[in-house]
Amino acid sequence: MENPPRSPTPQPLHGMFTAVPPRYDIVNRIITLGLDSRWRRLAAEACLDNNPKTILDLGCGTGDLTINIARAAGKDTEITGIDYSQPMLEKARQKATKAGVAKLVRFTQGDATALPFPDVYFDCVGISFAFRNLTYKNPLAQAHLAEVKRVLKPGGRYVIVESSQPKNPLIRTFFQLYVRGFVAPVGILVSRNPGAYRYLTESITRFYSPSEVRDMLKAAGFRDISYRPLLFGATGIHVTIK
Ligand SMILES: C[S@@+](CC[C@H](N)C(=O)[O-])C[C@H]1O[C@@H](n2cnc3c(N)ncnc32)[C@H](O)[C@@H]1O
Repeated sequence: MENPPRSPTPQPLHGMFTAVPPRYDIVNRIITLGLDSRWRRLAAEACLDNNPKTILDLGCGTGDLTINIARAAGKDTEITGIDYSQPMLEKARQKATKAGVAKLVRFTQGDATALPFPDVYFDCVGISFAFRNLTYKNPLAQAHLAEVKRVLKPGGRYVIVESSQPKNPLIRTFFQLYVRGFVAPVGILVSRNPGAYRYLTESITRFYSPSEVRDMLKAAGFRDISYRPLLFGATGIHVTIK
């Protein structure tokens, strides 16, 4: 197992994310009934809203958001995906080549709490389904938000697509039953990685509500926070400005 570079402290979840890549994409497709692809496309559109020239996909994993951005962006947009898991990045590079966008993107290994980029460099930072990992019970949550703020230009946007908590109590109960009764067993069966999918179940069912995420972003100094619920609020897109 490789060590993430420039880590100031031991990184939560790193071992798990070096283990899950072989079946990561297929499990995502199954447990979201294929909807995750649409959610990342919508996030890519939100990333491109203000015609950014420099975009970072934070916790890019196997590269789906990066690839969606590359497909929709102009050729002069600089698109970078960063992740601390080398196996995830290897998959991302293969997928970018297959998608015909390898020349438009670069994938780099690095940690969210010590980003290897200069201050005020990016017009947009996008993050798909890694915000929960970087904030839920993560002692380094503040460090991650401070790093995003540091690398964003003033007026730059942080676009977050992440699982959420449906507002309606009935739908929320159904969603939690779905995660415990379907997502967890299928994830464990297909990935053969029980630890990873137990963590997924716990973190999804207990993750913060949109207003708690809003408070967290506000406390970190972000402004103009908007939220778009998707699938009755089981997922959603936050957009905020530095
Ligand atoms: C649930 S996956 C999401 C991957 C991808 N963005 C997607 O939409 O499928 C979370 C990703 O965040 C990465 N990650 C978690 N903590 C990180 C950190 N501190 N620094 C860099 N990457 C991190 C993991 O390696 C993993 O690839």
